[in-house]
Order: sequence, then C-alpha cells, then structure tokens
Amino acid sequence: MSTAKDLIASLERLGDEFLAVIQPLADEPGIRAAQAGFLGKKGKLSEVMKELGRLPAGDRPLVGAAANKVKQAIEDRVAARLGELADAVGKLDLARTIDVTLPARPIAAGHLHLLTQVRLEAIQIFSELGFVVEDGPQIETDWHTFEALAIPKEHPARDMQDTFYVSEDIVLRTHTSPVQVRTMLTQTPPIRIVAPGHVYRRDDDPTHSPMFTQLEGLAVDEGLSFADLKGVLLHFVKRFFARDLGIRLRPSYFPFVEPGAEVDMQCSFCMGSGCRVCKGTGWVEIGGAGMVDPEVFGHVKIDAEKYTGFAFGMGLERMAMLRHGVNDIKFYYEGDLRFLEQF
Ligand code: DAH
Repeated sequence: MSTAKDLIASLERLGDEFLAVIQPLADEPGIRAAQAGFLGKKGKLSEVMKELGRLPAGDRPLVGAAANKVKQAIEDRVAARLGELADAVGKLDLARTIDVTLPARPIAAGHLHLLTQVRLEAIQIFSELGFVVEDGPQIETDWHTFEALAIPKEHPARDMQDTFYVSEDIVLRTHTSPVQVRTMLTQTPPIRIVAPGHVYRRDDDPTHSPMFTQLEGLAVDEGLSFADLKGVLLHFVKRFFARDLGIRLRPSYFPFVEPGAEVDMQCSFCMGSGCRVCKGTGWVEIGGAGMVDPEVFGHVKIDAEKYTGFAFGMGLERMAMLRHGVNDIKFYYEGDLRFLEQF
C-alpha cells in the first residue's frame, strides 16, 4: 500500500519527467499533446491520484496540495515554452532579409521580333494606301513561281533564283511574286495587295540567307502608270524611314514586268552624301519593280488591253538592315537576346 509520502514522491517525479519530455518539443500541437498525457483525464497525474482514496482522510489534503503544485508547475512550464516558441518566430520574422514592402520587380516581358515589327509597319503603311494583305504557300508550284511569271524552264533568270526542289514541279518559292499570280487568278481588278512572306534560295553569305522575307506589292486597275508605282514606293520609303529620302528607278530586267526597274533609295545613313553603307554612291538598292508584263496578264486571263498594273518586291531583312544598321543577316535568326533586345 502506498503511503502519502510515496504518492507525493511519485507526483514530484511526474513533474520532473514532464520537464524532460517538454524540453525538446518545438511546436504547439506537440506540447499540448504532452500536456494532455500528464494532466488529461487519463493522464499520468490521474493515475497517481487514483490511489488517493485509499489514504487515511487526514493525509489526503497534503497529497492534494502536492498534486496541485505539480499541476501548476506543468501548466507554467507549458505557458513558458509556448512563449519561447512565439518569441523565436518573431525573431525569425525580424531577421528576414526580404523586405516584403518593396515594390515588386517587373516581370520581363518579351516583344515582337524586329522582322515582325518591320513587316507589320510595312503592312500598315501600304494599307493606308488601300492595299490589303494576301498570302500564298511557301511550297509552291513551278508554274506559279516561274512559268506564269514569264520565266520558262530554260530561261536564264532561273539561275539567279536557284532553289530547293521538292519535286520536279514543286519548289520552295524563291520570291513572293507567285502570290501576284494567285491573286490575279482569283480576283478581278481593281486589285491592290501586298504579300509578305518567307522565300528560299540557294544563297548564304552576310547579306543573303537560304531563307529570308520579302514583301510583294501588286496593283491592277484601269489607267495605272509608272508614275503611280513611283508615287507609292516614294511614299513608302519616306514613311518607313521617317525621313525625306528620294528614290530612283533604274532600268533593269525582270521577266514579269515591262518596263522593269531596280528601286534605289537615298542612303539613310548619310542622307545621300556617300558613306560605307552605300559604297560612296549615296544610293542603296531596296528591291525590284515594274509594270506587269502583258504576257503575265495572258497567263491569268486579265485583259491587257483594258488593264495595266504595277508590281514591286523588296526584302524585309534588307529594309531593317538599312534602318537599324544590322550588318549580318544571321542576327535575325539566331535568337541571341543581345541582338533582339536592342529593338
Ligand atoms: N521577285 C523579284 C525577286 O525576288 C523582285 C521583283 C522584281 C518583284 C520586280 C516584283 C517586280 O514584283 O515587279 O528578285
């Protein structure tokens, strides 16, 4: 039989045991669980107190007082330990090196590729003149690419536009001019279109790439003249370069236009006084143009007696080069951010 002394000793041991149990605990649920294990209904303290009824009535208050003391000590310890933990969390908060009140860093947003910007700008300028955008396939028939444009099989002009053949009659288009043919086959005049898009050639050097981008233009109507062509191109150059630059049309040969011309503009770097870019001439070539050859009208069944038309084609990489001083065509395609982020 336990005596009052035994019970009091057990209670004191419980108190010590609890101190050891709570010491390593570092979270509130853990501490509360330990507390319940000692002070709860089925806790260790209740176990000991079951013996109380067997003691002589006179001894009971003594043991009861001891039990209350242990209980109080456990509760005090729990409160102290929880306080310590809260302090530690507060200190961590204060020691934080991130200042959450600082404004957020902007998210790095991308932007359109220079060639896309140039293409959209060119479309915008021509659309203000009433031109609409047309599209055509990049894998094109030999007929649309060459034959219908008055470049038959053995024509020497094919040499300058050697290309990738998918089969004998299917090629990767060498220029956007086949879109002229497709448009004239499906639309009746008046026609005013621009056709931007990728073209392919067997070329590879700092100013030529096996794939590049052209923008084709075509207008067909009654009474269109060479002066209309020149007016449209002049307006485009002035708007695109945002400068009062002149153009000149140098007689040249393209099988599908007659007369045909190379389009030069005053050098945008030296304003025509002569520099490295224009090789001292003051002029730089930007494309080809001319009046639609009646033979082409014949292929697309447009009445050459009634209608005249003008056409032009230019390289968009070259336009961007001239406006932004890009000196190697490869920069457009390599995806190097040091280049792309400049525009
Ligand atoms: N298609 C020609 C080329 O890629 C450029 C060209 C010349 C287009 C004269 C035209 C034109 O529309 O009239 O070399």
